[in-house]
Amino acid sequence: MDRQINSVEMEQRKGRRLVLFPLPLQGHINPMFDLANILHSRGFSITIIHTTFNSPNPSNYPHFTFRIISEDLPENNRCTKDLIAFVSMLNAICGLPFRDCLADLLSDTSEEPIACLISDAILYFTQDVANELKVPRMVLRTGAASSFCVFSSFPLLREKGYLPIQDSQLEEPIVELPPLRVKDLPVIHTNDPEDLYNVVVGMVEQSKASNGMIWNTFEELEGTSLATLHQKLGVPFFPIGPFHKCFAVTSSTTSSSLLTHDQSCISWLDKQDPKSVIYVSFGSLASISETQFLEIAWGLANSNQPFLWVVRPGLVHGSNWVEPLPNGFLETLGGKGHIVKWAPQQQVLAHPSVGGFWTHNGWNSTLESICEGVPMVCMPCFTDQKVNARYVSEVWGIGLQLEKGLERGEIEKTIKRLMVDKDGENIRERMLNLKEKSNLCLSESGSSKQALDSLVYHILSLESLTFHTH
Ligand code: UDX
Repeated sequence: MDRQINSVEMEQRKGRRLVLFPLPLQGHINPMFDLANILHSRGFSITIIHTTFNSPNPSNYPHFTFRIISEDLPENNRCTKDLIAFVSMLNAICGLPFRDCLADLLSDTSEEPIACLISDAILYFTQDVANELKVPRMVLRTGAASSFCVFSSFPLLREKGYLPIQDSQLEEPIVELPPLRVKDLPVIHTNDPEDLYNVVVGMVEQSKASNGMIWNTFEELEGTSLATLHQKLGVPFFPIGPFHKCFAVTSSTTSSSLLTHDQSCISWLDKQDPKSVIYVSFGSLASISETQFLEIAWGLANSNQPFLWVVRPGLVHGSNWVEPLPNGFLETLGGKGHIVKWAPQQQVLAHPSVGGFWTHNGWNSTLESICEGVPMVCMPCFTDQKVNARYVSEVWGIGLQLEKGLERGEIEKTIKRLMVDKDGENIRERMLNLKEKSNLCLSESGSSKQALDSLVYHILSLESLTFHTH
């Protein structure tokens, strides 16, 4: 199909518009905006459709146009306490406003013609809208291919009795998906477990019905999972990640962060020894109990390593911020610890003082850590994080998983193993090797760069197919 269009035609088609629709959560907004920047740098105009909930700041992106849809989320569902109920609700109520918005854009002759819609894979309702309006739809999957392999196996996992998970089976291996154990399955607590199953199946099926999938990953990291999935789903695949590095090498950076980055941590890091600091952050959604929070605090203090800790407001149940800490906790550590509400994470991970990352293994955090060669302590909380953590510790060998829960002695021991012991040295070596690969894949002949060239070509051929049929 690609070869049907010659390069002259390609040039003529530059200046087409792409419509992007992110899931309004931080870990999904960041890669979608990175992708928007990447495709903009390849000559496409960009329109972002977004919800009122967690809406982006258009002034950070003067080179894009923005359209808002009023999704009318019920007040009690605006919070993301039950993530699956939230995602189900979005898929149920966004259909009409999204359809009207896209139809409006399609009929607007003052703008460039629309080549294709790119939606987050989780917003699977958009496939029906795209079919109805006869617009090609591509999918951005912001997570790893390895976890998507597991999501695509949900029907099998249910048939074989692994799902729903029974507490008595947690340690059992999943023979169909090595090296996963039942406890590594990407589930999350939700009021109605059937909702989770339906969201996952909806995401997978409507990705399969799309005109192709864009991945924030790279061949050298996830080649096996990508190949397995590609065969299973049968749509074109474009692993063009890591996005944030891809964009950094093509243009200047703008921020899609919903919270303000506290830059004080960079001057604090400047004063620390090389590779001495453990950076601690559990992303934008995870939350912990007060008891767990205190175990973390004492585990960090007892490890005797300098630490930079992101305590997001709302991280600790029932607290606004760090109130549960004993009075004078940081002072007694004599400057060894620094706490902020939100950090410029990519900058932190790239800082020479950072030697380890205690993470929840959201996919963005995992990939950002790999790109800077920072080994991890893994503490997955839910969904894909569990699969990512297993791959980090068992498949890639670039981190240690906290297996025995959040207990201060275990935390202290694991941090020391990673930061000081021989174990840590081997892990660091493997990590640096992977970092090197994450750089190479973006070079001129690298796998991600080539996949990006193919993606541009593919988008333009989709457009040609649309024009032929209508
Ligand atoms: C969510 C889901 O929890 C996760 O399972 C899925 O893979 C992606 O979406 P989230 O908690 O947002 O993940 O974590 P992550 O994917 O790591 O994304 C967080 C983003 O926020 C990263 O890009 C990170 O750089 C940024 N961040 C995080 C900051 O800018 N500052 C911080 O202090 C912490």
